[in-house]
Amino acid sequence: MSPEPAVRIDDLRTQIAHHNERYHTLDDPEISDADYDALVRELRELEADNPDLITPDSPTQQVGGAISATFEPVQHEVPMMSLDNAMDRDELRSWADRVVKGLDGSTPRFVCELKFDGLAMSLRYEDGAFVRAATRGDGRTGEDVTANVRTIDDVPHQVGDAQHPAPRVLEVRGEVYMAKSAFERLNERAAAAGDKPFVNPRNSAAGSLRQKDAAKTAARELSFFSYQLGQLVFDPPGDAPDLASHGSQLEFIGALGFPVNEHVKFLDTVDEVADHCLHWQEHRHDLDYEIDGVVIKVDDLRQRDVLGFTSRAPRWAIAYKFPPEERTTTLLDIQVSVGRTGRATPFAVLDPVFVGGSTVGMATLHNREQVQVKDVRPGDTVIVRKAGDVIPEVVGPAATNERPEGSVPWRFPDDCPACGTPLTQPEGEADTRCLAPDCPATRDGKIAYFASRGAMDIEGLGEQMVEKLTAAGLVRDSADLYSLTVEQLVELDRVGETSAQNLVAEIQKSVDRPLPKFLTALGVRHLGPSASAALTGAVHTLDSITSKSVEELAAVDGVGGVIATTVSEWFSQEANQAYIEKFRSAGVNFGDPDAAEREAAARAAIPQTLEGRAVVVTGTLSGFNREETAEAITSRGGKSPGSVSKKTFALVAGESAGASKMTKAESLGVPVIDEAEFVVLLDTGDLPDRYAVPDTADAPPDQTDETDDSLPDQPDTASARQEPSPPGT
Ligand code: IVH
Repeated sequence: MSPEPAVRIDDLRTQIAHHNERYHTLDDPEISDADYDALVRELRELEADNPDLITPDSPTQQVGGAISATFEPVQHEVPMMSLDNAMDRDELRSWADRVVKGLDGSTPRFVCELKFDGLAMSLRYEDGAFVRAATRGDGRTGEDVTANVRTIDDVPHQVGDAQHPAPRVLEVRGEVYMAKSAFERLNERAAAAGDKPFVNPRNSAAGSLRQKDAAKTAARELSFFSYQLGQLVFDPPGDAPDLASHGSQLEFIGALGFPVNEHVKFLDTVDEVADHCLHWQEHRHDLDYEIDGVVIKVDDLRQRDVLGFTSRAPRWAIAYKFPPEERTTTLLDIQVSVGRTGRATPFAVLDPVFVGGSTVGMATLHNREQVQVKDVRPGDTVIVRKAGDVIPEVVGPAATNERPEGSVPWRFPDDCPACGTPLTQPEGEADTRCLAPDCPATRDGKIAYFASRGAMDIEGLGEQMVEKLTAAGLVRDSADLYSLTVEQLVELDRVGETSAQNLVAEIQKSVDRPLPKFLTALGVRHLGPSASAALTGAVHTLDSITSKSVEELAAVDGVGGVIATTVSEWFSQEANQAYIEKFRSAGVNFGDPDAAEREAAARAAIPQTLEGRAVVVTGTLSGFNREETAEAITSRGGKSPGSVSKKTFALVAGESAGASKMTKAESLGVPVIDEAEFVVLLDTGDLPDRYAVPDTADAPPDQTDETDDSLPDQPDTASARQEPSPPGT
């Protein structure tokens, strides 16, 4: 029986948020792109059938990944949108039909570009000088990785000359990637140094960009392809060249010295587009860089304006995604590995086969039930699938008629292969787990995760060091790290006095990490960095979190039922309570009990001129960036939703204000004010005289109702500024 849609939707959102975090924040995905896409598709379909269950925080309404705390946040002046996907010719056709219908008469010309498998990057130039590189992040806020991107040869440090004068502001967007040949060289160097090989070029590129030391990035040979303009300002505006099509924008970008990929194709019909996609599906391995599809865009920028955006993606572009690649090979054995969370995962040992751009010798079989359903047995010829990313999988047997007589289905082991404890399959779960608290397989993984960058960030404490510490019996759980001494460490193989001292100092330094880092580090299922931040944003100390009921936790924005239940169960177990006390004795930061009061006091000092009022902002203001605007409004008791509704108190229109918001405000009679009037509003709570209402008793200010219309229609700002209109329009 399938579960209630609301339950399944909640479950899918939790799973997707978890995988987003693995992919975008930790650069360590657990599932293939294809499996991830299947989760998102299922969620979309369920939401389409149950529109009342759509919430603004659903992953379907958002772009890309979470923002991690390692690099400084950067607000994108023009949002970095995601793309909708098409998986086959029919889906391409329906997209093209929607485009043609949306254009009401005029015919589109399509530009096809390769879909590079790297990381989206926005490069900002002011008066020709490279000033900042930012990742996409969640589309609105990315991370500042300027120092690292500056080391990439393809990224010019200065642009513009007499023939091609540099704009006042120029944002060039594109993909940072690692060429396959550079990736091979990287792995040769890793092998020579006795280090673990890197998994694939995309992950290596992501990891390289996240280095704290730019010299390490410089050694990684990254490259860049540009494919889009972000913010573009000419001063004086008359200097703007005619950029009325994507083709002319690419020429403009190329003339300024940015690399534009050579395989750009202009086509008139969707059938030609589909043939072109299939061509690259066949020839993707001819290239020295990885691609995972083809991006198709409408060329004419006026047509793009007409088509506009949905809440997360442009209607004028689509990504055709290649299907996962498949090959057959012999299944030599099935084994079971136990991971950090105790999950016992069956995996296939294969006769190595080249698929999806790399040689595969092992592939996942997911879980107990999947092996049963697929009924694959050692000796079988099996189909292996890989989608250009991390985890290849066994699809099933290629043929079962060649099996030797008397062959029997493979049986999942009863006991943990690492510690011998009987495995359990919790009710209602697909996964089988080893729940022994001291299982060596889970223990080492948990400690390494505790020390990892997204968690307590203890430098020098990687997997190998953890193995040494546990093998020597110095550490049984993560809390034991805090009692390690230099004397103990120097006894270990290949650990000198200096590195021992450094490690002890790094461990001690970590006691002051912010509470969300510590919560993440505990490795409670589903409680990743975002949920931890959401939780500590509302409940400021560990002790108050543990004293809350499941309902109270679930009521926290960004937490929800699934996370609340696992968190509550985890903290209620006696063994875990004792574990937490060890951290308390070590002096680990459990949060600041006075944080809430201090915030309230700071708030009390600011006059609450906007109490209960919703103020929407469109376009750019000269004196505030996006974050400061929102802060100015909320710190005065107001709300700053992303879109205009009849409950909006005022719309603040900055430079390049979005046409749709303005029209909507006007049609609903919502006051539209400029930046100077906004400053007065913040100060006094008053609107300009032209909006003065006759004094009708003490009417309360409008209450906001974000659920009524809270999906941002922000891209109108983007279209106005990202795609400069041709002169004369
Ligand atoms: S255009 C508003 N063009 O695909 C359109 N994206 O799923 C912005 N990508 O985040 C994207 N190659 O990281 C565009 N030729 C290309 C691309 C491309 C790769 C990536 C990019 C983007 C993701 C969208």
